[in-house]
Amino acid sequence: MKVLEARDLNFRYSRGKKQVLRDVNLQIKRGEFVGIVGPSGSGKSTLCLAFTGIIPHLIHGEFKGSVIIRDPQTGAKHSTLETPPSKLSPIIGLVLQNPESQLFNMTVEEEVAFPLENLGLPPEEIEARVRWALKTVGLDGREEEFPPNLSGGEQQRLVIASVLAMKPSILVLDEPTAQLDPVGRKDVLNLISELNEKEKITVILVDHHTDFLFKRADRILVMNDGRILMEGRPRELAERAEELREVGIKLPAAVEVYAELKKRGLEKALSILPREALFWRAGR
Ligand SMILES: Nc1ncnc2c1ncn2[C@@H]1O[C@H](COP(=O)(O)OP(=O)(O)OP(=O)(O)O)[C@@H](O)[C@H]1O
Ligand SMILES: [Mg+2]
Repeated sequence: MKVLEARDLNFRYSRGKKQVLRDVNLQIKRGEFVGIVGPSGSGKSTLCLAFTGIIPHLIHGEFKGSVIIRDPQTGAKHSTLETPPSKLSPIIGLVLQNPESQLFNMTVEEEVAFPLENLGLPPEEIEARVRWALKTVGLDGREEEFPPNLSGGEQQRLVIASVLAMKPSILVLDEPTAQLDPVGRKDVLNLISELNEKEKITVILVDHHTDFLFKRADRILVMNDGRILMEGRPRELAERAEELREVGIKLPAAVEVYAELKKRGLEKALSILPREALFWRAGR
């Protein structure tokens, strides 16, 4: 089942001269894990904003084409042109790079409960969802803490909890680990993996580091100058290392070694490597 579809999507910011999204066409299936990579300025963040309806409702510009979000619970389809982001957030959630800019409340618990109160849910439902979301991200027992006192990784997991509590079926994450230390990064990436695997949440993840995406993504989209330049399963993209390098995508070291051996006709040498070394081949 398709949960997100972009058709001939084009966008230019009101104050921008250039076309930032150009003829973007894509479909995302329920439960899929989609990675997005691309050089700086290629339109990845703009695409995330367009998926969640922030573009064109809160950030304006010239918008052409459509983004359709399907709620798998009800089967209802929503065009982001007609449905405001507040109505979309129980279906598609957005996590941004800087956790501090997304935390506003005095306690961890309030941070997760607040958006639910705005939805007008009954108190027992709010309490159950807060408990579930905090447990899912590993912040149970930390309810009374002041969010700015948490580590960067914990803050980002709290942001994810507050988004999760809305019970979205799709999670869009725009470089959620860019500002985290290696421990925080690992924790957040593990959490994203688990949400996809165990909670069956559709994940759309923008990340500059390709190691994780080549291991975990079902499909990787490569953006360049507002267009989807390439897309494919990690193992398909590993065969196109040269083209990826040309647009400045840094590949996992193992994929680089593979591409180099292949170029020299030494692919057979790979058979001596353990399976884990060729992780993108074992991918989904
Ligand atoms: N609010 C805005 N108004 C005008 N132009 C903008 C605005 N936000 C982004 N842009 C421009 O749109 C283009 C795409 O930006 P976007 O942030 O989507 O790229 P990105 O791929 O996410 O880059 P990065 O890897 O640096 O995060 C850039 O040229 C950027 O300068
Ligand atoms: Mg960006």
